[in-house]
Amino acid sequence: MFETEIKLPRVILCAVDTGEYNAEASMNELAELARTAGAEVAARVVQKRPVIDNATCIGSGRLAELKELCQNENADQVIFDCELTASQVRNIEDVISVHTIDRTTLILDIFAQRAVTREGRLQVELAQYKYRLPRLAGMGVSLSRLGGGIGTRGPGETKLETDKRHIRSRIQKLSEELKEIEKRRGLARSHRKKTGVPVCAVVGYTNAGKSTLLNTLTDADVLAEDKLFATLETTSRAVTLPDDREIIMADTVGFISRLPHNLVEAFKSTLEEAANADVIIHLCDASDPECHEKSNVTLKLLEELGCSDIPVITAFNKCDLVPELCEALSHEPQSVLISAKSGAGTDKLLAAVAEALGENCVSGRFLFPFDKGGVLARVRELGGVKNEEYTAEGIAADIRLDKKYIGLLEQAAKPLSADKHDEKVSE
Ligand code: GTP
Repeated sequence: MFETEIKLPRVILCAVDTGEYNAEASMNELAELARTAGAEVAARVVQKRPVIDNATCIGSGRLAELKELCQNENADQVIFDCELTASQVRNIEDVISVHTIDRTTLILDIFAQRAVTREGRLQVELAQYKYRLPRLAGMGVSLSRLGGGIGTRGPGETKLETDKRHIRSRIQKLSEELKEIEKRRGLARSHRKKTGVPVCAVVGYTNAGKSTLLNTLTDADVLAEDKLFATLETTSRAVTLPDDREIIMADTVGFISRLPHNLVEAFKSTLEEAANADVIIHLCDASDPECHEKSNVTLKLLEELGCSDIPVITAFNKCDLVPELCEALSHEPQSVLISAKSGAGTDKLLAAVAEALGENCVSGRFLFPFDKGGVLARVRELGGVKNEEYTAEGIAADIRLDKKYIGLLEQAAKPLSADKHDEKVSE
């Protein structure tokens, strides 16, 4: 048998450390992103300077060194950790003669590589056009050099070479199409709300283990890989809670620090699943030394998305990798420790979800007189009836229902018993 050796593009990572953020952590993340995009990182260059150079991002001395490094390392590409203007790209490439992209282009490229659904693809294309439009002027040299490297997927060269008017009209068309898809998604969501099935969104930093958790809980075949952004679209599955209640659990796109604003906008409709959820599981990778910082990024983005009033359960994942740390964390009453891979602790997590949802629920055994059969039918429709049995006085049913429908029970049913933790209906 022949073995074919696939040559990965060799890249050099480059950053300016102005002290504005943790440059080293950001470079580590850039390296992960490059690996996810299918590149091999040959070297890293970090220059400490008070400000970014307007013309070439790094200083001219460093740029000359970068040119030499590119030759020595046989680099195919250079990736800058900050956003570059079109003229910066042109000036850098003029000196180093190696194709140069920035962090945002890299992220967009990964998104383009991985978007599966029509909505995902349209969103990525839209974000790419929006990012490239103001950079079109003066990009001729750079574009004509594009080969099969990173940052070249998505709208083709010929499209980009056409005039800006054409791109603007494409942006408008994409936006309209996306709005249409979003509307349909909104309808599906409101249908779910109407049926009373609670939604739990799993959010977290990219690679935290969201897809793995969903797979473990539902046997769903969601792509789980040790690469960033394995999940681009929301995947929803039914999960049964320990109290037999069915909920919808939705996987969401992973968050990332310094996510370009254009992308937050572009992916809003997938993240909206979180904004509309009844409860949110915030998954953190306990084995990641950056766990705390990343968790703050996620919480900040949730706030931006208007999720502040939704109960959030923080779960520390990958506990199998850091048993000592988990031992320490286990003393904090609020923390749920799990291993999505082995399933350890997931029962406690689901119990926490049930408890969080329980606060919004009324439950217990109720008697519906025979002449109130219509109301019982409505409660059934809302998914709130677990068991029912005919008695001489009427139909006795075990109910668990969103608190907002409490009026239905009050007008038609007599409580036989109410569960301890839930809201009781007054007689
Ligand atoms: P994105 O799609 O990028 O947002 O990632 P994700 O959060 O969905 O992560 P995913 O489920 O793809 O998991 C990322 C990697 O972590 C995979 O290699 C998983 O096998 C691994 N992983 C997830 N959970 C655990 C765990 O509990 N223990 C260990 N050891 N590895 C885990």
